[in-house]
Amino acid sequence: MSPISKTWRIGVAGLGNVGGGLVKFLAEAPLYAPAGGRAEIVAVSARSRKRDFDISGYAWFDDAVALAASPDIDIFVELIGGSDGTAKAAVETALKHGKPVVTANKALIAVHGQALAALAEAQGVPLLFEAAVMGGTPAVKMLREALVGEDLISVAGILNGTCNYILTEMEASGRSFADVLAEAQRLGYAEADPTTDIGGFDAAHKITILAALAFGCAPNYADAEIEGLDQIELQDIRLAHDLGYRIKLVASAERIDGGVSVRVHPALAPLEHPLAQAGGALNALFIEGKRIGRIFVQGPGAGSGPTAAAVAADISDVMAGAVRPVFQKPASELKTARGVEGSQRLPRAYVRLLVRDEPGVIAAVSETLAEENVSIDSFLQKPVHDAGGVPIVLTTHATPEPVLLRAIERIGALPQVLQPPRMIRIARV
Ligand SMILES: NC(=O)c1ccc[n+]([C@@H]2O[C@H](COP(=O)([O-])OP(=O)(O)OC[C@H]3O[C@@H](n4cnc5c(N)ncnc54)[C@H](OP(=O)(O)O)[C@@H]3O)[C@@H](O)[C@H]2O)c1
Repeated sequence: MSPISKTWRIGVAGLGNVGGGLVKFLAEAPLYAPAGGRAEIVAVSARSRKRDFDISGYAWFDDAVALAASPDIDIFVELIGGSDGTAKAAVETALKHGKPVVTANKALIAVHGQALAALAEAQGVPLLFEAAVMGGTPAVKMLREALVGEDLISVAGILNGTCNYILTEMEASGRSFADVLAEAQRLGYAEADPTTDIGGFDAAHKITILAALAFGCAPNYADAEIEGLDQIELQDIRLAHDLGYRIKLVASAERIDGGVSVRVHPALAPLEHPLAQAGGALNALFIEGKRIGRIFVQGPGAGSGPTAAAVAADISDVMAGAVRPVFQKPASELKTARGVEGSQRLPRAYVRLLVRDEPGVIAAVSETLAEENVSIDSFLQKPVHDAGGVPIVLTTHATPEPVLLRAIERIGALPQVLQPPRMIRIARV
């Protein structure tokens, strides 16, 4: 790469949603370098050459790794996806050849971020991944640049648009999770295999990256605690609403007593709260710091156009010449953060029970909670009969998590309780 190139020659591996979006973006909105040069795609790679847009002007590579090594490109853009395989091999190859890399691949960065950062830093080239988190809504750059040096306490929000769309549609239409998921798949909002999204893994990749940027620690996807949406029932959405909450899939990274907690799980947010208000496929994020207080951003988290715009912004940064540590500190100094003990967490919770319709049930539940020192915040009993029982819902005050889980297990064992209790945490917002 020459810093005075008139043209910054871009090699793009992956021409799907994002790669196709980038081709269109650069055709419509040229990106200029400070010295007057501009970015131009010169070579591409995908599995097949068949496209519904014109790629005849670009050199074709059957092998993305060969494209990454090509002396005819200045910047390698990886838009294939997956934490391993070709995407990883190609990114490593580009970095080893001293080429700046731009990627939208959250799985790759969450799983191999530290090793790739070490490679990039050894070569003195940037490794940028704005598009990996929140698509077109700036989040990575905000943490890496605008908030560098700030003492951050937490980052938390809605990072998976597919899950948010499903939850929003369930509430709006009164349809079941399975129905709405099937429709989302038909409309192309959800993948044919939706596990990565609804299992919470996609959001976990993203929050792992944000945690590393926020707290200057090694990305540690392996230790993220992940609970997806698959257990959410329509009745939970309705009951939560009756109590003044909306259910969201919340991804959070928090610093607690020197440890870092990275989690994804369904959570109740108060109806008037911005997280509850972010509907459809929107993403939303709160960042909290000691000096800055709270910042909130909301916007598109995926889609061809928004994601391509984030990739283009990274290409523009490469041309501007900025090279920063990939995760706030040099890769060699990144440590894996200590986890957080369950007893250090104090969630409030929503607990739904299906109980026998007979006297003394509420007293038995209350006594069990009192014996465990769990205090009840609210109680709701609905006059409906379901599977031979009556649903009751309670919310608790903040309780050490192991105590809460033990109390719920004991309640589940009461003879009057007909189904395993359903517990959903109330978001700390
Ligand atoms: N879609 C979004 O809204 C979004 C948002 C944020 C981040 N991302 C990330 O962006 C990346 C790309 O996502 P996408 O939605 O664009 O995926 P996609 O539509 O499935 O496109 C993937 C592209 O990679 C190509 N490809 C697959 N294996 C390849 C290989 N071995 N060598 C060369 N090319 C190969 C495919 O070729 P063929 O077309 O020939 O099959 C396809 O063009 C992923 O890391 C994803 O997580 C996506």
